[in-house]
Amino acid sequence: MAKPQLIKYDIGPTKLMPNSPKPLLLYKKAFLGQDGKIDPLLAFDTFTKNGWDVQWVTRYGRAQRSHYHDSSHETMIVLSGPGRIRWGAADLDDDPEKHTYGDAYEPGGIEIEVETGDLFVIPAGLAHKSFDPGAKGESYGCLTGDAHGIEADDPRKLVAELALQGFMMMGAYPRGFTWTWSEGGAHLGNFESIWSVETPDCDPLLGNSGGIRDHWEKPTTQC
Ligand SMILES: [Fe+2]
Repeated sequence: MAKPQLIKYDIGPTKLMPNSPKPLLLYKKAFLGQDGKIDPLLAFDTFTKNGWDVQWVTRYGRAQRSHYHDSSHETMIVLSGPGRIRWGAADLDDDPEKHTYGDAYEPGGIEIEVETGDLFVIPAGLAHKSFDPGAKGESYGCLTGDAHGIEADDPRKLVAELALQGFMMMGAYPRGFTWTWSEGGAHLGNFESIWSVETPDCDPLLGNSGGIRDHWEKPTTQC
């Protein structure tokens, strides 16, 4: 696999969302073979080798609530697309049609169309909502359990055998970190505590040789 192109996005705080002084990293065409098809097991094994444990595979519906993780960074790889992700903005209404397709969300974020092979490395605090405007239902949910671990005797086998359809991503978190779900306004006046969540030693894709080691904080330890 050639070294994928890296794109950085700086998304600072809004009124309700901490977001992050660390950039969002996007690698294009990660884990794509010569045939243009993705290799989910190669992604799974690379994340695991680099100390990021896969905890879910999800198929997205028409809407998701904007959220962030206050105690962990996260990585997500698009296994099947296209899909859309809005970054950095809080929802301002409970109605999914209004906060996803209307104007009931904060200014200050960005929205991008994503495709198979897009790999994101997301700093703690950065808000995101993932959705598929072409989906019929509002949500399909996690395909591998409760999203806090792959619930199977052989997690690799389950991931390898999942049918890829619609907008699907696989998510992983640095080993030893626990992820929780927070929505806009949950940490008002306390953004710094989230921005200081420790950076893991290894980039989920590049390990010791770049990514978060170059673009987040200079690590003091070896990956
Ligand atoms: Fe997330």
